[in-house]
Amino acid sequence: MKHQTTNRITQLFRITYPIIQAGMVWTSGWRLASAVSNAGALGLIGAGSMYPDVLREHIRKCRAATRQMFGVNLPLLYPELEEHIKIITEEKIPVVFTSAGNPGKWTGILKKEGVIVVHVVSSSKFALKAQEAGCDAVVAEGFEAGGHNGREETTSMVLIPLVRAAVHIPVIAAGGIASGKQMLAAFALGAEAVQIGSRFAASEEASCHINFQQRVLDAREGDTELSLKQLTPVRLLKNSFYQQVKALELNGASAAALVALLGRGRAKKGMFEGDLENGELEIGQVSAAITSVLPAAEIVKRTWEEFRNGLEGLSKNQ
Ligand SMILES: Cc1cc2nc3c(=O)[nH]c(=O)nc-3n(C[C@H](O)[C@H](O)[C@H](O)COP(=O)(O)O)c2cc1C
Repeated sequence: MKHQTTNRITQLFRITYPIIQAGMVWTSGWRLASAVSNAGALGLIGAGSMYPDVLREHIRKCRAATRQMFGVNLPLLYPELEEHIKIITEEKIPVVFTSAGNPGKWTGILKKEGVIVVHVVSSSKFALKAQEAGCDAVVAEGFEAGGHNGREETTSMVLIPLVRAAVHIPVIAAGGIASGKQMLAAFALGAEAVQIGSRFAASEEASCHINFQQRVLDAREGDTELSLKQLTPVRLLKNSFYQQVKALELNGASAAALVALLGRGRAKKGMFEGDLENGELEIGQVSAAITSVLPAAEIVKRTWEEFRNGLEGLSKNQ
């Protein structure tokens, strides 16, 4: 692949392509992160579904599998957070993407250890907070995205330029990006890189269950919805579990009743064990456009080539 680009993000992470593979529970372990980093983009291990000792094992395996930089995604809402941070600093992880929480406390602690910190936001207000906390960049994650999301439902098309205007640190766009053309649109709106989740969930190196991947390939427009808005909003594929959540919500159920339905291990059941009816299946709207499981390196290559060709095509049209 030729035509490299250099910007603040490629320099920050020492990567060839301004593409980041999103941290994803039950999906992005060391195999996916190392494959992406070896392909010239940035791979992230998703710590959200890992006990601390499992995270350490994934970090070590990733390090053995790539000489390139890789990072860890750390949702700030789990009880083992302090243990995770201890492991990240002991293992000298250079990059951490935090999400789902307040970056105020943890950014400073990580930065003191020399870690590059990026926080995921769903509004320009939180982007400013991340900048004030000392983050090196922000991920602007739109309503289309898979996984947990903001309540405001701001789409990537609207969010990216708003965040870009609000902060001076670089903006990484996420939500609804699974192709080079979508990446190009994000750059036109002010992004300096893209964070891609759903497309990499359908990769050969992803650790999620093959049943889940097949369901992602089968997904059509309208098959996902932002659910559980009372608790922690999350975009889900519509299955029996989703229907139960929906029924409770329509009946005005309390947060406690929803927590009881969620119980423990729903996400593991769905995405890791492949129980398509009783499990939680997190994926983005863009699943409607994903039709194949590919090697992660091929996803990086195709995305980049389509981005470059699209850019040239646009210039010719002017
Ligand atoms: C299966 C799945 C699991 C996810 N888990 C996490 C997570 O653990 N932490 C996080 O910050 N975001 C998580 N996300 C969101 C992604 O990091 C990313 O921002 C999002 O997928 C981008 O939108 P896209 O799916 O349209 O590419 C998850 C997304 C998916 C699809």
